[in-house]
Amino acid sequence: MRRIGILSVGNDCPGLNAAIRSAVVNSIEFEIETMGIKDGFEGLMEDKLDVLVRNDVSGILHLGGTILGTSLFVPEKDEELVEIKNKTIQYGITGYVILGGRNAVRSALNLQRYGIPSIIVPATIDNDLSFTDFSIGFITALEHVTEALDVIHSTAESHHRVMIVKTMGGPGGWLATFGGLAGGADFVITSSDVLNPDELVKTIKHRYESGKRFSLVVIEEGVKLPEEIIDECKCSYETDPAQVIGIYINKKLDIEWRYTNLGYTQRGGTPSSMDRIIATQMSAKAIELVKMGKFYHAVGMKGFIVTEVPYSDTLLNVRPVDYYIKQLAKLFY
Ligand code: F6P
Repeated sequence: MRRIGILSVGNDCPGLNAAIRSAVVNSIEFEIETMGIKDGFEGLMEDKLDVLVRNDVSGILHLGGTILGTSLFVPEKDEELVEIKNKTIQYGITGYVILGGRNAVRSALNLQRYGIPSIIVPATIDNDLSFTDFSIGFITALEHVTEALDVIHSTAESHHRVMIVKTMGGPGGWLATFGGLAGGADFVITSSDVLNPDELVKTIKHRYESGKRFSLVVIEEGVKLPEEIIDECKCSYETDPAQVIGIYINKKLDIEWRYTNLGYTQRGGTPSSMDRIIATQMSAKAIELVKMGKFYHAVGMKGFIVTEVPYSDTLLNVRPVDYYIKQLAKLFY
């Protein structure tokens, strides 16, 4: 009987459990055994793995996070990869299904150098992997950003304030841009943008002059601000850019501001229906590839179609958010 090891590498996201469940159910169909590896490759090296049967994945579809746990550890060094190779032989594992984002890709490519087969299933709220339109977790995180903006909107309006809202997801810009578009942001700053301070001030001033006495400014993590803004605000390079922006707007327009970092509220919680569906589909495809012995492929989504891409493609490239979406969002500032 063939046997796969399934594990999560890197940060968690909503929908991982749906992916694990689908991998187990599809494997049973093809008489493939699934070993659930706890806490990523770190767990494998510590022998934290067990066979997953149908009952083990019952009742987890709607749960956020991952029942297996995860770890940021990426096997890189010779001795780590040799140890993983030995564990693979010891446990009779034919190949791995690796769930995750960039760290998962890096791990899979490192394993490939040692002839350890795997398949990648993209799972990251950042949605910035080059080989897929959607990664598991993005749509749920996007909902969280949108809901947060809706909530912040009403209090911003009551107090006539500028609200600065910080998102995760850099440097691809997906959560900030899509979240901003869906949540009606009045200005979005992503980490790949070169901020034009005059444009920011002009936009907010124009809103106030036209009777809209509040603004929502979305700023992605990792934004680097122009030196002159930091200096003018008498801030240091360590000051959170989101706060610098607040100080800057206050300085220029004398409007009260407040700051919210959405932080981990974006990454946790119940997966959206679409995340459950794409997780189920992509894991099913991964198991189909295992059945065919077609390893060293990443599965993905092109629209609603599940795809497979060989590892020889440039899997590590960052996929920036579409320029036209950014332009479209600006129309509503
Ligand atoms: O990988 C998803 C992500 O949300 C990134 O956008 C962010 O940089 C990172 O996780 C932060 O994770 P942590 O604080 O757990 O290291």
